Amino acid sequence: MNEPDHPEKPGHPEEHGTEERGAVLRLPTTADTEAFGRTLAAGLRAGDLVILDGPLGAGKTALTRGIAAGLGVTGRVSSPTFVIARTHRARPGGIGLVHVDAYRLDPASGTGVLDELDALDLDTELTDAVVVVEWGVGVAERLADRYLLVRLRREPDSDVRTAAWEWVAR
Ligand SMILES: Nc1ncnc2c1ncn2[C@@H]1O[C@H](COP(=O)(O)OP(=O)(O)OP(=O)(O)O)[C@@H](O)[C@H]1O
Ligand SMILES: [Mg+2]
Repeated sequence: MNEPDHPEKPGHPEEHGTEERGAVLRLPTTADTEAFGRTLAAGLRAGDLVILDGPLGAGKTALTRGIAAGLGVTGRVSSPTFVIARTHRARPGGIGLVHVDAYRLDPASGTGVLDELDALDLDTELTDAVVVVEWGVGVAERLADRYLLVRLRREPDSDVRTAAWEWVAR
């Protein structure tokens, strides 16, 4: 059981401030990770930034797939191999998703995710969508005043993933 001050589902910082953080969740299967994404999506609003931290194969794309399902956006979420970002349109009345994979962005180069997204000329305004950035630590924070940081970890020789989230104010 989670402590009351370690909720499983993030409340929104506009109501709860950015002090909130969740307990470490155990995610034994891919389906559990996707379900956690759907839970996260329920608390997200247009313009929210989500930064996903975690090593190769940690489940960042799987989590994004769950967020996409929770938002009900169009298109299949996959690892963008050649593109930095992919836009998923909102269903009527819903919120869209901009899925960014910043793996190839070098934090030291000075080119931030914002420059890259500007160059892509996305057809969705970032303020109209939820923006999820894989490998976003160190390169995507400046996209918003606050962001939901989700850390995914994997245990050696096991499918079990763990996840912890917190809202971070810049
Ligand atoms: N508990 C779990 N949660 C998430 N994925 C899991 C889990 N157990 C096994 N997997 C598998 O691990 C892989 C995770 O891949 P995924 O592409 O989501 O990771 P990633 O963090 O996005 O990797 P990358 O850094 O390459 O972008 C998938 O093949 C998935 O099926
Ligand atoms: Mg990925």
